[in-house]
Amino acid sequence: MKAVVLGAAGGIGQPLSLLLKANPAVTELALYDIVNAPGVAVDLSHIATPAKVEGYLPPDDGLEKALTGANVIVIPAGIPRKPGINAGIVRDLAKAIATTAPKAFVLVISNPVNSTVPIVVEVFKKKGVFDPKRIFGVTTLDVVRASTFVSEILGDRSLSLSVSVPVVGGHSGVTIVPLLSQSSHPLPSSLDASTIDGLINRIQFGGDEVVKAKDGAGSATLSMAYAGAEFAGKVIRAIKGEKGIIAPTFVNLASDKTGGDALKKELGTELEYFSAPVELGINGVAKINGLGKINSAEKALVQAALPELAINIEKGVAFVEASKL
Ligand SMILES: NC(=O)c1ccc[n+]([C@@H]2O[C@H](COP(=O)([O-])OP(=O)(O)OC[C@H]3O[C@@H](n4cnc5c(N)ncnc54)[C@H](O)[C@@H]3O)[C@@H](O)[C@H]2O)c1
Repeated sequence: MKAVVLGAAGGIGQPLSLLLKANPAVTELALYDIVNAPGVAVDLSHIATPAKVEGYLPPDDGLEKALTGANVIVIPAGIPRKPGINAGIVRDLAKAIATTAPKAFVLVISNPVNSTVPIVVEVFKKKGVFDPKRIFGVTTLDVVRASTFVSEILGDRSLSLSVSVPVVGGHSGVTIVPLLSQSSHPLPSSLDASTIDGLINRIQFGGDEVVKAKDGAGSATLSMAYAGAEFAGKVIRAIKGEKGIIAPTFVNLASDKTGGDALKKELGTELEYFSAPVELGINGVAKINGLGKINSAEKALVQAALPELAINIEKGVAFVEASKL
C-alpha cells in the first residue's frame, strides 16, 4: 500500500505524513514538496512502523518518482486561502498523476475543494483517464468539527469519538450542510432555534475560528491533518477489502451506476458534484447514498448551497478549459 503526500512539508502535510506513517496498513510513504520533503521523510523514517519513507523534490523527476506505483495520493499542496494560486498547483499535480499514476485514488485537500476537485476531474478527462470513482474531495474536517461541537453541546466531550453527523453539500461556508437531525446522538429537543443556528454556523465557518486564533500564521493544519488521515485511512481499509465503510466526501456524480443520478434527482439539480455519504469499496466509490430523511430547515440549507456550489464548480471547470495542458 503506497501512500503519497503532495505538499508534504507544509502545515497540513507534515502532521498528515506523520499520521500516515503511524498507519500500519501503509507500507510505502512517498513525500513530495517543492521544499524540505527529504528532511521530513528522514525524520519520519525513524518511527518504528512498517512504512518505508522517501522524500522527493522537483529535480531529477522527483514528482514522477514519488507518484510511481501510488495507491492513494493525498494533496494538501498549496497556499492557505489563495484559491487562484492553488488552482494552478492542483492542475499541474493532477497532470502528473494522470500521466504517472492514473489508477490511484486521489484525495484533494487543497482549497477551495469545491473547485479543486473539478480541476482534477477536468485534467483527467482531458488526459483520457477519468474515473469518477477515484477522485475525492476531503470534507472530513467538517464532519470532525460537527462531532466535536455536537458533543460539546451534549455536555460530554468523550462522546465526540462516537458522535457521527453527516455533513453534505460542499466544503466552504454555506455549502457546508450538517444534517443534525441525523446525528447518531440526537440533540435535546429543548434546544432553541438560535442555539441550533449557532451550531450550524459554527460548523460552516469553523475554519475562521482557527484563522483568527492563529492571527496571521495560517489556517487549520493539525485538525485538518487528523481529518485527512482519518479519511485516507478509510479509503485504505476499503480498497483492502473491508466492506460497509461510509464517509461523506465531495465526489463527481457522473457515474449513474453508483447512485449519482439518483442523488441529482433527489436534489433536483443538474450539478455534477456534491458531497454525500459515500460507501467506499475496492474500486473507490461503491455507492453514493442519498440524503435520507432530512427536516425542512435542512432541505432549505441544501437548496441554499446549490447556487454557490454551481459557481464554485464552474470556476474549476473554466480554469482547466482556459489552461494549456
Ligand atoms: N480541505 C480542508 O478542509 C482544508 C483545511 C485547511 C486548509 N486546507 C488547504 O490546504 C492547503 C495547504 O494548507 P497548509 O496550511 O498546509 O499550507 P502550507 O503553506 O503550510 O503548506 C503548503 C505546502 O504546499 C507546498 N507546495 C506549494 N506548491 C507546491 C507544488 N507545486 N507541489 C508540491 N507542494 C507544493 C508548499 O511548499 C508547502 O509546504 C491550502 O490550500 C489550504 O487552503 C484545506
